[in-house]
Amino acid sequence: MAAMDRIRNIVILTGAGISAESGIDTFRGGGGLWEQHRVEDVATPEAFARDPELVLRFYDMRREAIQTKQPNPAHFALARLDAEWPGELLIVTQNVDDLHERAGAKRVLHMHGEHLNAWCTWCDVRSSWRGPLLNRPPCPACGARALRPDVVWFGEMPYRMDEIYAALRGCDMFVSIGTSGAVYPAAGFVGDARELGARTLELNLERSEGSAGFDESRLGPAGELVPAWVAEMLL
Ligand code: OAD
Repeated sequence: MAAMDRIRNIVILTGAGISAESGIDTFRGGGGLWEQHRVEDVATPEAFARDPELVLRFYDMRREAIQTKQPNPAHFALARLDAEWPGELLIVTQNVDDLHERAGAKRVLHMHGEHLNAWCTWCDVRSSWRGPLLNRPPCPACGARALRPDVVWFGEMPYRMDEIYAALRGCDMFVSIGTSGAVYPAAGFVGDARELGARTLELNLERSEGSAGFDESRLGPAGELVPAWVAEMLL
């Protein structure tokens, strides 16, 4: 039986592993980001208050780096699924890069924010941003020099949780791609979806902390597993 006959609504959660083959470091892998910088030094509101230059320089570097990277076959496959899937579909990404969008995906929700946005803590407006923030440029909306990276730091609430839970409640299939299942609330989505009767599938390079919570785990690089899964879904 074709997947479309059994499944209507899909939620896909992506993590750093989907961008690994594009050359973006994962968080917890060997040579990963946190090995050069302690999390507490760069990704918390306390770190920003203590040493804003260090935090801004770090995110300026990351913002510049992602603009030199390209989407890989896993991003393109999800964009194809997004374009061709007739039911509801939501790609919830923990990633702050824009590779899903550059591959052409439309139904993307960035729960941890976006590198290519700056958030004005004075007027609360978010502006699209490609250059540095270290030199404290003025906010395009209000002129205050109060811009920070629009990235969710440890201890802050991820974005658009209501929309995510609404999509989880309505999905028949939940697929997790390239995420370690170590960071909540995202790590809890599989349990929520499964409790509500959705089929759950994990695509990851190796078994993750969350693997036991899925109906099925497929192991391998996202650049191979994701196009194969999408082809199955669109059969
Ligand atoms: P992690 O670095 O924790 O996990 C990446 C996962 O991707 C691991 O399980 C790897 O096995 C897997 N992986 C690596 N290369 C892969 C490949 N080529 N194909 C498939 N899988 C691969 O990254 P996340 O789970 O995304 O949050 O981390 C979650 C959150 O923790 C991040 O969004 C960030 C961090 O703290 C915030 O910054 C708020």
